[in-house]
Amino acid sequence: MLSPHSTCVVKTIATTYNILVLAVLAMLPGSALAELAMIEVCASCHAEDGSGVGFEFVPIIAGTPASHLEEALYAYQDGARRCVGVPVMCEAAALLSDADIAELAQHYSAMRRISSGETFDKALAQTGEAIHEEHCAKCHVLPHDENVGNALGIPLHGQRSAYLRMALGAYMTGDRVALMPAMAEKLKLLDAEKIDALANYYASYDPLPENASPSQ
Ligand code: HEC
Ligand code: HEC
Repeated sequence: MLSPHSTCVVKTIATTYNILVLAVLAMLPGSALAELAMIEVCASCHAEDGSGVGFEFVPIIAGTPASHLEEALYAYQDGARRCVGVPVMCEAAALLSDADIAELAQHYSAMRRISSGETFDKALAQTGEAIHEEHCAKCHVLPHDENVGNALGIPLHGQRSAYLRMALGAYMTGDRVALMPAMAEKLKLLDAEKIDALANYYASYDPLPENASPSQ
């Protein structure tokens, strides 16, 4: 799924941040220092603003509804998501208490949602839109939809494409378990071509207008 070059980049990220994770492990659990250090660990990949800019496979988490961030962090903790590309993500999640998870989810959900602003193919994006509308839109609404916090799925529009492709690949190979059987059924309908179309469609999402409020 990943090209040899991408795999190499992922390994470099993982090795560099193993050191940080070990440093946090050494601190007293629950101490204020550990809490601050934990946010630094997250920021080392996701960036201070939750954009993950600079790392191809790291998702944008800024402005994602807290409920979805929590659900994802618990999925890394209990093994429903296995972090095959970047094991340090699961190692970091394993260190979090329930209170840390609630706090970090609040921290990132309160941030302004951004889009990856990637280039995309127009024709593929149109094909992707049709697939999305038919099979995914019921659960995955736009990041600025007023009901995004109550939607069943995590917002996908404007998310980094390399991450979306990796995540979809992981559900297909079983490295991620889709938490809703209804989504697992939909994913069975996808192939490489449809995933490519969907990735182009999600990349076609324009950044939020200046005055839009974060999705909470
Ligand atoms: C070594 C880099 C790295 C570090 C450190 C890291 N992450 Fe991640 N994070 C990733 C990658 C890569 C993924 C995608 C992993 C996957 O699903 O295989 C991810 C996924 C996530 C997701 C899922 C987002 C979604 O849309 O489903 C959340 C939430 C998250 N990280 C929060 C955190 C928090 C909070 C911390 C700090 C405790 C943290 N991450 C530390 C790299 C990192
Ligand atoms: C019945 C509701 C439902 C449907 C339909 C659905 N999903 Fe999901 N999706 C979810 C939920 C819930 C999650 C988060 C939990 C998980 O990882 O399973 C999710 C997570 C995802 C993620 C990971 C996002 C992230 O940030 O980590 C991707 C990618 C995804 N879905 C793509 C799709 C695509 C593409 C379709 C249509 C072919 C689709 N989903 C249809 C409910 C749904």
